Parts: sequence; C-alpha cells; structure tokens
Amino acid sequence: QPMALIAGAVGKDGYRHYMEKELHEHPVVIGQTLQRVIDPVSKAVALPKFDFSLAEVPRVTMTACGSAYYAALVGRYWLEAEARVPVDIDVASELRYRAPPLTPGGMGLLISQSGETADTLAALRLLRRSDQRIVSILNVETSTMGRDSDVTLGMVAGPEISVASTKAFTAQLSVLAALTIAMGQARGTIEASRAQQMVSSLFDLPSRAAEVFQRVADIQAMAVIVAAARDVLYLGRGVCFPIALEGALKLKEISYIHAEAYAAGEMKHGPISLIDKDVPIVVIAPSTILFDKTLSNIQEAKARGGRILAFTDEKGAARLSGIAEQMVVLPDVDAFVAPILFTIPVQILAYEVALLKGTDVDQPRNLAKSVTVE
Ligand code: G6P
Repeated sequence: QPMALIAGAVGKDGYRHYMEKELHEHPVVIGQTLQRVIDPVSKAVALPKFDFSLAEVPRVTMTACGSAYYAALVGRYWLEAEARVPVDIDVASELRYRAPPLTPGGMGLLISQSGETADTLAALRLLRRSDQRIVSILNVETSTMGRDSDVTLGMVAGPEISVASTKAFTAQLSVLAALTIAMGQARGTIEASRAQQMVSSLFDLPSRAAEVFQRVADIQAMAVIVAAARDVLYLGRGVCFPIALEGALKLKEISYIHAEAYAAGEMKHGPISLIDKDVPIVVIAPSTILFDKTLSNIQEAKARGGRILAFTDEKGAARLSGIAEQMVVLPDVDAFVAPILFTIPVQILAYEVALLKGTDVDQPRNLAKSVTVE
C-alpha cells in the first residue's frame, strides 16, 4: 500500500509489533525508493541535480551511525568496485574527531534515517569545513541534515517506529545502488549495457523480496537454535560482510543475545577459538559472492563442531546441503543486489528470536530511535 506509507500511517495494521509491520514493508519501500531515483520508464538513473560533476569527485568520505553505517559499508564496496572512486569510511563518532586531511572538492556522503543523529551531524559540519560537497541519504528530508546538505537523496521508507531499523536499511541500499550506477556512468566505468542490467536487477527486487516471506518457517526453525544460544557468530564476505554486521547488531539490540560479526576470512585470526557446539554460526552466503572462499571458512567452522545456519540461494543450497544444519534458501539474483535481498531474512531472524525470548521488540532496553545527544 504505497499511499499509506507516503501519508505516514503509523498504526500496526494488525501486526504484533511495528518491527513486524516494517519488515513486511521492505518490498514496497524498495520499489518506491527505486522509483524515486530511477525513471521507471526510461530506466535511467534520475537523481536530483548536483552542482558539481560526479566524474570529477576525487574521493568520497562516507559516514553514519548504527545500521546506516553498515549500509554505508555496502556502498563503499559498490562505489570502489563499480564506480572506481576512492572511498574512506568511518563511524561518525570517530570521523568527527579524526581530523582527516581531505582534498577540497571531495564528496562527503552521509546516511541517516532521521537526519538528526548528533554524531552524524557533527561529522557533516566537519566535512563542510573541509570543503567537501555534502550529499545526504535521508528518510526525513526536512531534517537538520537535509537543510545542511548540498544534495539530499531521499529514500521513501515512510515512518519507521521500531527502534531497530529495518526497512530504512534496504531503502538506503537502494539509493546507494542508484548513486553507484550514476557515478560509474559519469566516470565511464559502467557501460550502458551493464547499467541496464543493474537497473533491471534492482527493479526485480520488490518481487524477490516478497518471496522471502514464504521462507518464514525456515527462519523460525533457525531462530529456535539461535534463541537457545548465549553467543552467536555471523560471517559474510565482500558486500555480505556488512549484512553479517547488520544481522549481529539486530540480534543484540532486540534479543539481548551476544553476537559478533566477522569477515569470514578473519575467523581464523581469533573467533575460531570460540567455536564449539554451543555457538551457532550464521553465514550469509549467496552463491554469487566469494562463495568458494566462504564455503571453505564454513567447513573450517564445521570441522570444529560449529553448527552452521546458512542464508543462501538456490545454487548455493546444493553445495551447502549436508554441511548446514539449517538453511534459508532465497531466489537466485544478480550479485549486485544480493546484499539488499539478504538483509531481509537476516533481520527477520532477529525478530523471530526476540519473539521466542519475549523481549520488548519495538522498545528494546537502553536504546533510542534517534540519538540526538553525543
Ligand atoms: C540509533 C537507532 C539505530 C540507527 C542509528 C542511526 O542507534 O537505534 O537503528 O541505525 O541510531 O540513526 P540514523 O537516524 O542516523 O539513521
């Protein structure tokens, strides 16, 4: 119901929690956000006008807090690999005190659902003082960050009431994907045919995202194992490493189970010592993204008694059967959009675990929706 979202409906619409309702809004929010940044008829990226050239940006400095920071991490992989632009990235609470030497004319790229987070706002002002062009990806475009930016790229997520961010994250990724295509085309690193392919895989996402909800029973089976654990390890590689980070954050936030995310290749440099039958290992493993490398990390964990819970796709499932104890199998999609699709079941897992634990899903202890003080 796109209209309801735009009009700012804030009821639970029969769902048990705002978080559950907002999870179900992923497909619509992705679709609406894409229509805002890509012309649905011509399929050309249609961002607001920039008063500088995307082709000439020497460097992008990205910053955000919380889930928005993990969206930014995905954006870094995309901007570097696809648009071939150098990217620096940090959480806003660090960037604001780092005194980074920045080249004038660079792009400061901020991501925030609320547009009011104190650290992100302070980082924006630092970037402004360092002669950066300020581009913000925001849900609330009338916010302080919206007013202080040169260009605002609006996501169309509608109001997000649950303290734990869900749909805003896939909306942020949708905008970042469009920005990546625009920058790659401006810089000549993405050819027209590749751009078309990227756009069509994006426009395909709302239907693929809707299919995720047919997998809820499998996610619930995984949740039973996770809910019984004291510690959980999340693993991913490349653009799926930030999705592992997002999964671990969501689990900590709403179920109060300790979770850590690692780039799968780093596992042997520490967390492998934690692995035993009591530490479930959640892997984000679409067949398209460094699958063989991730598979060998999974086998290392399995050999040490680890219980493997895998989010994968049809092709990956064939190779994980017999290795993973539980699998959630998503449709095969282009590697470019996989991190957007895989976010959804990973967030649903945290929700299902919180239900089993009986925690206050929408209002977890000690957390605030918008952190406007340092
Ligand atoms: C708080 C929220 C998180 C959110 C973060 C950044 O910690 O609980 O869900 O990701 O702030 O908020 P922002 O509004 O800047 O995206």
